[in-house]
Amino acid sequence: MRLSSGAWMAALAAVGLAAGTELRAQQDTAGANAVLPWAYVLNDPDAVVETPDPEEIVTVPGSSLSMRRGDITLANGPPYWHPDGHPPMPEVVARGGGGDVMACGYCHLPNGQGKPENAGVAGQPYEYLVQQMTDWRNGLRKPGEPRMRPPSLMERIGLATSDEQARVAAEYFSSIDFKPWVEVVETDTVPVTQYAGWIHEVVEGGGTEPIGTRVVETPVDIRRNKARDDTAGFIAYVPRGAVGRGREIVTTGGARSVSCTICHGDDLRGIGPIPALAGRSPTYMARQLYDLQTGVRNGVWSDLMDAAVKNLTEEDIVDIVAYTASLDP
Ligand code: HEC
Ligand code: HEC
Repeated sequence: MRLSSGAWMAALAAVGLAAGTELRAQQDTAGANAVLPWAYVLNDPDAVVETPDPEEIVTVPGSSLSMRRGDITLANGPPYWHPDGHPPMPEVVARGGGGDVMACGYCHLPNGQGKPENAGVAGQPYEYLVQQMTDWRNGLRKPGEPRMRPPSLMERIGLATSDEQARVAAEYFSSIDFKPWVEVVETDTVPVTQYAGWIHEVVEGGGTEPIGTRVVETPVDIRRNKARDDTAGFIAYVPRGAVGRGREIVTTGGARSVSCTICHGDDLRGIGPIPALAGRSPTYMARQLYDLQTGVRNGVWSDLMDAAVKNLTEEDIVDIVAYTASLDP
């Protein structure tokens, strides 16, 4: 059975889970984001990056397609590396809808698996996806990192996208199963990474460093990632013990939160219009917990998350997303 979102939200509010909004007042006084820089990856001006050769012919494993590097652009839409891996893309996903309605599939990938700097949208509930597009249009979702606004890419896209385009894209992405995509590895040390292309890129020969309180999510194969191959996922290094601590918070609420499973489901695969968390990018999820806590993400349904996020510490966020990412989607 699928509950309508209205009935679902009313039922949750009735059991007293929709909490107050006292944190909202703090949102614009926090200044430049000093927390979670590993989740809001801003390109480092000193990063050493190879200049791509536009004439290079790019191929990826398991695909018979080959393409000029210079033709892989947002304006052209995503390459069709694996057309058998997803239904035919509607126009708005494959090419966009003109102006700021940029091709959804370029960033979120043709099969909707997404990347840490954006979001996995495959397999999320149709109603949830439509609601998020409406929230962006109405200026209710912003990134917690002030230097990313205004307006962030998804805000611009949300503003420009018509209801019909949003519905078509939501129908497409919600029809696709989200597949295992992130391998979570507990560790004390991580390869040294630099921030380039909006992600953690491993520095060749850069050695290792202590992980500290962060998640370092990086492509399994940077070359395939840059080619926008939607079958090459990510590895997420997390602090030792994070997965177990996260499990404790998610299932019991721990000292500072409430159990998440009542709304997101025992396996965190979502219930009704509530989004799935299992197996999805820990980097993306960490940004959302912070954005919901500080209130810059203040959509129509966001109040339902207040009790869950209001007292979370940075370490809690790391632990929670380490656990959610470790689950089977
Ligand atoms: C240029 C890159 C880009 C394109 C193109 C793009 N998005 Fe996004 N999208 C993002 C980013 C970045 C985020 C993550 C924002 C954040 O971290 O809060 C995002 C997040 C989302 C989310 C939130 C997912 C969730 O779980 O709440 C939805 C829904 C979404 N995009 C839909 C779309 C649709 C529909 C289109 C096409 C009309 C589209 N996007 C095109 C970059 C893009
Ligand atoms: C009372 C119901 C409820 C509880 C309890 C709850 N959530 Fe949520 N969660 C929601 C709703 C509803 C949304 C969508 C919010 C929106 O649209 O802004 C959401 C969104 C999220 C998101 C963003 C997902 C995305 O794709 O952008 C994350 C991450 C999340 N929840 C994590 C948690 C965690 C972790 C807990 C427990 C510590 C938790 N939630 C407890 C209802 C709940």
